Amino acid sequence: MVKKASFSARYGPWALVTGASRGLGAEFARQCAEKGLNLVLIATNATMLKTNADALKKDYGVDVRTVALDLGREDILAEITPVTDAMEIGLLVNNAGISKVCPFLSHSLDNLVKQLHVNTRAGLVLAHHFGKKMAERRRGGILFLSSGSALSGTAYCANYAGTKAYNLIVAETLWYELKPLGVDVLGFMAGSTKTPGWDANKPKPARFVKVMDVKTTVEEALKALGKRPSLIAGRINRLGYFFMGKMMSRARAIRTVSKNMDKMFGPFDDNNQKPGG
Ligand SMILES: NC(=O)c1ccc[n+]([C@@H]2O[C@H](COP(=O)([O-])OP(=O)(O)OC[C@H]3O[C@@H](n4cnc5c(N)ncnc54)[C@H](OP(=O)(O)O)[C@@H]3O)[C@@H](O)[C@H]2O)c1
Repeated sequence: MVKKASFSARYGPWALVTGASRGLGAEFARQCAEKGLNLVLIATNATMLKTNADALKKDYGVDVRTVALDLGREDILAEITPVTDAMEIGLLVNNAGISKVCPFLSHSLDNLVKQLHVNTRAGLVLAHHFGKKMAERRRGGILFLSSGSALSGTAYCANYAGTKAYNLIVAETLWYELKPLGVDVLGFMAGSTKTPGWDANKPKPARFVKVMDVKTTVEEALKALGKRPSLIAGRINRLGYFFMGKMMSRARAIRTVSKNMDKMFGPFDDNNQKPGG
């Protein structure tokens, strides 16, 4: 792992983490603070952001600002730049995401479009804005949260998986384009990780899925930044997706992944809802 001093020299003095009120985002913020970075935390829940900010200031002695903001909005930069204009944001973690698992037609179109905006548009806008400034300074890092679902069609996650495939390809391309400008970019395919978002989908324990903890997942991501264009979290996941990519047709991969989704998140009734849920 990059040592604390070199991490903050490379990616400090400020990191901006979206979706930092809970789950992986809160852990990204904590590990960045542990490495000595000051933080801008963004999510909609102002109370949770403040609680996290107070804990980070107390535990790690770093400076923390919060922006309570719906990243689905068109004008996100107008809300964020008054806070960040005077800062050097050296690390951007595009983590915020909406990940409800259910059949495509049972989502409202409004919710699907909002998911598209939060999961992809917000990260695009922020990477363009802060990436320019990082390139001018010839240093920095940008992390895009993707998912194993980026690698094949995944039942009950059509739009979500599409947003994660978008993030993966944007990240891998920027890894190539921005490297000569001193900016590291990583597309990080998190696997099943125990977070409030994961629990909210009421998964059934499955023998074939190893659910990771946020600390391990985030450690893997921060360690991989600057070393590769993308990474699948967890050795077992890497093995599984390697096998799937090499040995299965696209149709078989989609069926296999989707049957696993059925076991973990189904069944859904005739109204595309979980019975009793
Ligand atoms: N956990 C997993 O198994 C897993 C697997 C693969 C990929 N991922 C990806 O990892 C990222 C984090 O996942 P997680 O499991 O930690 O999710 P989570 O527990 O649901 O947390 C999601 C975060 O995003 C924020 N967020 C949601 N909608 C927002 C909006 N409209 N505006 C601003 N912030 C918003 C939430 O904050 P507020 O509610 O306060 O707004 C929260 O901080 C996501 O991109 C997810 O797709 C997770």
